[in-house]
Amino acid sequence: MTELPKVGILVGSLQRDGLSRKLANAVISLGDDRLKMRIIEIGDLPLYNPELENEGVTAWQRFRGEVAPLDGILFVTPEYNRSVPAALKNAMDVGSRPYGQSVWAAKPAGIISQSPGALGAFGANHHLRQSLVFLDMPAMQQPEAYLGHSADLFTADGSLVEGSGKTFISSFIAAFAAWVSHYPVSKA
Ligand SMILES: Cc1cc2nc3c(=O)[nH]c(=O)nc-3n(C[C@H](O)[C@H](O)[C@H](O)COP(=O)(O)O)c2cc1C
Repeated sequence: MTELPKVGILVGSLQRDGLSRKLANAVISLGDDRLKMRIIEIGDLPLYNPELENEGVTAWQRFRGEVAPLDGILFVTPEYNRSVPAALKNAMDVGSRPYGQSVWAAKPAGIISQSPGALGAFGANHHLRQSLVFLDMPAMQQPEAYLGHSADLFTADGSLVEGSGKTFISSFIAAFAAWVSHYPVSKA
């Protein structure tokens, strides 16, 4: 049997019991026949400072080491003040350096943004896309996933409510699995 592509999920919120993490866990189980997905933790990463590169920051090394062998990256994020939460931006910065040794280059990416409000974190989704251009990560264009009223997606036990939301998320995962296969990351 061929191995499933390995995808790391970066959750943009540090809340253990937040909607983004719930969504990420739901995505992992919905897509487990197509992708081997797991959450890559970002909450322990010190704020990026190039002056610390020679000091061997353990959390940065752990993070870069986990991201480097992956075949794709899925972002599941809320919006903070119409942009990308600082913890997620910091993780992007940490992975992008030292200059010339970015762990992101050429990795296919997908974005699911969510908000308990109506707008589905559109601002965070598109600010993140701007960074992906510079990081040379081919970002899936369609379907776009701006999940508004995201609290309504879940039952009391944290599973996805049967209905159009779950159907949409399943179709997003199917498209993302195809996207990852289209852009095989060179392991040379
Ligand atoms: C600092 C901060 C800024 C926020 N800004 C926005 C915003 O710009 N747009 C929005 O839709 N929700 C905003 N929210 C509400 C979040 O969407 C909401 O808290 C969401 O549940 C966070 O995701 P999580 O449950 O995965 O932690 C903000 C929340 C915080 C804490």
